[in-house]
Amino acid sequence: MHSVILGTGSAAPENVVTNHDLEKIMDTSDEWIVQRTGIKSRHISLPGEKFSDFALPASRLALERAGLEATDIDFIFAGTMTPDYLMPAGACSVQALLGAEKATAMDVCAACSGFIYGLSIADKYLRCDPTLNILVIGGEIVSHHLDWDDRTTAVLFGDAVGAAVIGARADGHRILAVETGSNGNLGELLYIQGTGSATPVTRDFDIKDNYIQMRGREIFKHAIKNMVEVSNRALANAGKTVEEITKIIPHQANMRIIEMLAKQFKKPMEEVFVNIDRYGNTSAGTIPVALNEAATTGFLEPGDLVLLTVFGGGLTWAAAVVEW
Ligand code: UT7
Repeated sequence: MHSVILGTGSAAPENVVTNHDLEKIMDTSDEWIVQRTGIKSRHISLPGEKFSDFALPASRLALERAGLEATDIDFIFAGTMTPDYLMPAGACSVQALLGAEKATAMDVCAACSGFIYGLSIADKYLRCDPTLNILVIGGEIVSHHLDWDDRTTAVLFGDAVGAAVIGARADGHRILAVETGSNGNLGELLYIQGTGSATPVTRDFDIKDNYIQMRGREIFKHAIKNMVEVSNRALANAGKTVEEITKIIPHQANMRIIEMLAKQFKKPMEEVFVNIDRYGNTSAGTIPVALNEAATTGFLEPGDLVLLTVFGGGLTWAAAVVEW
């Protein structure tokens, strides 16, 4: 018995904001954004839209494709830093809406790496008890933390949520290894200063402290170094070599990072899944949304050996090797 991916789903706000839309509200250009990041448009939630509005349909799709009912789910792990509320957890909001009565629900706060961290926890629970059915969610409504006056961050991110149902089976899309890592010493390279206990929301709360701040160039270097390192670790644990990998689903933060990863792994871009042009960086949503699209569009074929790899705030990073 192995942990296997039984079904996937994803959802995003209907509202699409293009680079040309952004040109009208800030000093940027479609040309700069496409050349430096690969992003052409992103989904941005409308006022009133929240995490569970997208986590719920993504989870329902994943359950349907897994052939399971909400009442079959034992655990829900939601990788997110933007749940509906600070408390209860986003996973609890989804549990209530799904009617997943017997589930234990909790959030995994690891920024962009939240989904693969959740996958890692699910895999380890399943090694202890193979009868479990586990719903792993990843995604954000990150636009609430964007400063539309800051062109260095506002153009990069978007909103979306993905989900996968994991169980233990003899056959199926087997998770061969999941590896993770983090370095809290570098947390300030990518952070949101406010709303936590260090800078709580008081009467004189500075709204700027609600926004993402990123030292992009430094993050860029750490992203490549750590995604390569954790991917090699996951491959070693899976007993596979990089030559055996046939498809890569990388974190969608920057097209140049994705191309550099492909070069490092000596893979042609045809074997690398890319949807950053349509979504931008959806943080914990990048991997499950890409996985769902790769699975449902025929990009992933039976027999593929798939590498998932991600990097984000914390700093955090993770990789998984899946036999499709
Ligand atoms: O998901 C978590 C992980 N995140 C990442 O991995 C992101 C990693 N970093 C990156 O993707 C890139 O560093 C960025 C896309 C954030 C920035 O690209 P860059 O090539 O590193 O640009 P830069 O920050 O060095 O800025 C170059 C120039 C600057 O102008 P000057 O100082 O050279 O005159 C910026 O002010 O580009 C300017 N610039 C822009 N111009 C037009 C920055 N943002 C924009 C913009 N439109 N939106």
